[in-house]
Amino acid sequence: MTVEPEQNSHQIVVERLWKVFGNNPSVALEAGNAEKSREEIQTEFGQVVALRNVSFQVQKGETFVVMGLSGSGKSTLVRCLIRLIESTSGNIIIDDQNVTSLDEKELRDFRRSKVSMVFQNFGLLPHRNVIDNACYGLEVKGLSKKDRYERAQRMLDLVGLNGWETSKVSQLSGGMQQRVGLARALAVEPEILLLDEPFSGLDPLIRRQMRSELAILQKEIKKTLVFITHDLDEAVTVGDRIAIMRDGEIIQMGTPEEIILNPVDDFVSEFTEDVSKDRVLNASSISVTPDLICTYPADLNELKEKLDRIKPKHIAFVSESGVSLGVLMRSDIEQTSSTKELDHCLANSPDSMKSFSNVKPAIARLANSETPIPVIDSEEHLIGVITRGSILVALAE
Ligand SMILES: Nc1ncnc2c1ncn2[C@@H]1O[C@H](COP(=O)(O)OP(=O)(O)OP(=O)(O)O)[C@@H](O)[C@H]1O
Ligand SMILES: [Mg+2]
Repeated sequence: MTVEPEQNSHQIVVERLWKVFGNNPSVALEAGNAEKSREEIQTEFGQVVALRNVSFQVQKGETFVVMGLSGSGKSTLVRCLIRLIESTSGNIIIDDQNVTSLDEKELRDFRRSKVSMVFQNFGLLPHRNVIDNACYGLEVKGLSKKDRYERAQRMLDLVGLNGWETSKVSQLSGGMQQRVGLARALAVEPEILLLDEPFSGLDPLIRRQMRSELAILQKEIKKTLVFITHDLDEAVTVGDRIAIMRDGEIIQMGTPEEIILNPVDDFVSEFTEDVSKDRVLNASSISVTPDLICTYPADLNELKEKLDRIKPKHIAFVSESGVSLGVLMRSDIEQTSSTKELDHCLANSPDSMKSFSNVKPAIARLANSETPIPVIDSEEHLIGVITRGSILVALAE
């Protein structure tokens, strides 16, 4: 179950953003031209439309992935967010601050404290050692040397580079250099992290490792991330929501499930074809409402009476506050003769699954036992149950 974000929890708001490269960019926005295709604008006026009317919002703490083929405008988009590239028209609002109207000094402060960026090619200083690279953003921030080193060290620990502080970055592998880049970006303690294909230079194995490490790290640091990739696997692993770009436009935006299960057109479905559906079906997306939910502790006789009347196949037990206590079949309960026995049954009932976890283990478990699996949120509240039936329905779709 996703909760609609509140209006004021959006940290990044982009409205009708255009970027046209060339000597006369405004011509592309003139009446009659805005509808023309990118090719037409290019042949007629020699201007390159890199972003066309792009709008989206990112919530605080969210990982927003931008995906698209080479040349679709991904880098232009993130660079516009911190004005490494000036947009042609449109609004960029970050924490209620209109980024496009910041003066030079405000822009410097904004880049120093609010947002940092990890570039595809690391962008490290080759003659400096690891910790001095990680410190880099802190020098311009005016921290004391002791504070700089302390903070950089914490970030190096966080990205798993403890022990490498004094190594030259040129002696590190690509994966390790990218960790230095990540530590450097995190050291300034930005609220927002922009990652432009951070893992694209790495070999597939390291890439997969870095990607899952980032997902774990994100649980800890809870930054707002804008993550660019052209790898769908990556997008699905790290993204809360994904925007798909083509020729400078966002053509679809949604959760990984929404995009893979309901692609808007052939382009998106071709893009997403390779990801098997069981990977994006997570526990919550295939869970269903339990036959009966019962608050526990409860009077055993009353409970049995209720079961007689309603005849549910299974019963989910929750505490007063909604915390899942387990799921039992009706026959399990009918065979018990005391609350103590019932406690024992509950204690031995199948483990629950977190809402975002993969469905594959559930399939294996339900092959061996008929008892549904409770699905819980991060606070262990019951969201629903996975039954044999709900898995079959999901797979059939
Ligand atoms: N400085 C520039 N001058 C002219 N055209 C540019 C400039 N920078 C980018 N472009 C054009 O804008 C379009 C979008 O480029 P961009 O770099 O944003 O794409 P991308 O999606 O990041 O691609 P990739 O996956 O290859 O990094 C491309 O057609 C590109 O040629
Ligand atoms: Mg790019």
